[in-house]
Amino acid sequence: MEIFTLTITLASIFTILFAVKTYFPYFWMDVRYFCELLQIILKFLSRRRRTPCFFVVDRFLEQTATHPDRLFIVFENERYTFAQTDKRSNQFAQALQSQPGYVAGDTVALFMGNEPAFLFTWLALAKLGSPSALLNYNIRSKSLLHSFNCSGATVLIAAPELREAVEDVLPSLTQQGVTVLLMTDHCSTPGILSFTEKVNAALDSPIPCSVRSNVTLKSPASFIYTSGTTGLPKAAVVNQMRLLSSLAVLSSSGVSSKDVLYLNLPLYHTAGFIIGFIGSIDTGSTIVLRRKFSASQFWDDCRKHNVTVIQYIGEVMRYLCSVPMRENDKDHKVRLAIGNGIRAEVWREFIRRFGNVQIREFYASTEGNVGFVNYAGKIGAIGRVNFIHAKLFPFVLIQYDTERDEPVRSPDGLCVQARKGETGLLVSKITDFAPFEGYAQNEEQTERKRLRNVLKKGDLYFNSGDLMRIDHDNFIYFQDRVGDTFRWKGENVATTEVSDILTMWDCIKEANVYGVSVPGHEGRIGMAAVTLKEDTHFDGRKLYSHVTEYLPSYARPRFIRIQEAVEVTGTFKQMKVKLVGQGFDLGLIQDPLFILDDREKSYVTMTTEIYNSIISGNMKL
Ligand SMILES: *[C@@H]1O[C@H](CO)[C@@H](O)[C@H](O)[C@H]1NC(C)=O
Ligand SMILES: *[C@@H]1O[C@H](CO)[C@@H](O)[C@H](O)[C@H]1NC(C)=O
Repeated sequence: MEIFTLTITLASIFTILFAVKTYFPYFWMDVRYFCELLQIILKFLSRRRRTPCFFVVDRFLEQTATHPDRLFIVFENERYTFAQTDKRSNQFAQALQSQPGYVAGDTVALFMGNEPAFLFTWLALAKLGSPSALLNYNIRSKSLLHSFNCSGATVLIAAPELREAVEDVLPSLTQQGVTVLLMTDHCSTPGILSFTEKVNAALDSPIPCSVRSNVTLKSPASFIYTSGTTGLPKAAVVNQMRLLSSLAVLSSSGVSSKDVLYLNLPLYHTAGFIIGFIGSIDTGSTIVLRRKFSASQFWDDCRKHNVTVIQYIGEVMRYLCSVPMRENDKDHKVRLAIGNGIRAEVWREFIRRFGNVQIREFYASTEGNVGFVNYAGKIGAIGRVNFIHAKLFPFVLIQYDTERDEPVRSPDGLCVQARKGETGLLVSKITDFAPFEGYAQNEEQTERKRLRNVLKKGDLYFNSGDLMRIDHDNFIYFQDRVGDTFRWKGENVATTEVSDILTMWDCIKEANVYGVSVPGHEGRIGMAAVTLKEDTHFDGRKLYSHVTEYLPSYARPRFIRIQEAVEVTGTFKQMKVKLVGQGFDLGLIQDPLFILDDREKSYVTMTTEIYNSIISGNMKL
């Protein structure tokens, strides 16, 4: 009898399990993700409750105490264990403490490339309870001053190779009484102090934690600048709480102390700094740090250092796939790639070419209050709608009018939720658990990211500026950034889609697609600034047939501008503003310029006659 009952029970369990697997294929993945999320949150909450306050730097000290001799940083020919990193950062901290013009707790700006000194300085500042402003080392003059000033920093620490950039803004800095330190043994420029010898001469004894006793979880920890495509950079405030919660970014993806992480993205941005560096502090992994991303060195580096985890942004994966194939493409130990922005076709190509690498695509922004992880490994998706996740971080996709560049509002003034399968703007409710800290000293930009009266009168959401789509299996797909679409002939054109089609063609290496306005026409017409692959030449007829084959007429770039190199920012984000401003004006452009000609079935050279007839309205586009 008992055996009978048992058999029946087992059979029903199997039937249920089978049904779950068949009808809800992602059920177990969802459950697993939920458990992981719960663990992360519990760990975070227990850390948050600790007294005195527990900060990221305390996690680093914990790791150092438990594994002093574990390798933490590898850079060129340098190696630093946790203990060595700790001692070196103590020296930085001691030297700073005895620096006139600096008091523990003051904000300090870092102007440095990817090198160990960046990490040592950051840790030193954390030990001293000082917020750090992570300046983008590509910025100069007005932008540099602006970024520096909006952090409220009183000290600037710069790498020696950036001396000239510092000298450019030195008069203003001196006038404001800023202490300027250069990481070199000697500097003859008046107003710039050399700092390296002071660091080398400093004691490596620990900084007592009483020095940071005034710091709370609400205090700013770092300022990270968002790579604004328009206007001056904005400093997103990353407070101690947010940094503490981001300790989990790597550990929650299964990264452990046995892993070796390849960090080549800029440390001044979230991807490199938070995911790579802060994430490794929690996991205790080894960081192989590289100055810059290099597609040709990438896999050799990975082989040399036994790298197991790599980080990417979309362009990185595309560049890796575009270097010539090699016999040893699959010969490496990389098992996991973490990042954001890989396109579906690049994802497939990457796996085909470099073997079984798990790709963990996620979505997050430096200042945003919502993030997703594609834990199910669904190609092309950035994440998945999960009941629990949606409860903790209430987000919604709302209909967006790309023409007017604002959310669609119903007559009652509220936003309209996008339906499944329909593209909408991602907005996320601002709560205590999902806060939005805003931008330092920039209430105007902060307010622009806030959206009110979304689903109810008086509610408050964070406007991500990202257009997304949720499919019927609840996967979330990134569609575009607001502003990365334009409307032409009443249709939305997604610039990234057009650029993907263009780069599929043999000759085009990179394509930057945007919309330009034409007098007498609504919307904006498509234009692409492209670079050509080596040893190829532009064949207007062939490009015409490629474009007409793959793109609907409204999405075809009407103008093609051929450039020597695509201008990019530090994260390869293409700079469109200038290009858009120049449009197809022959007077402003020296580059070769072509226009799509349907009668000739080709892209033909743009002439002043054509230009004039467009401007005068004789020629309709
Ligand atoms: C903490 O703040 C108080 C009040 O502003 C100040 O007097 C004290 O010196 C600070 N302590 C440290 C360690 O900075
Ligand atoms: C990489 O792994 C191989 C074999 O497991 C080992 O012989 C080699 O020393 C390792 N290299 C580094 C840099 O750890």
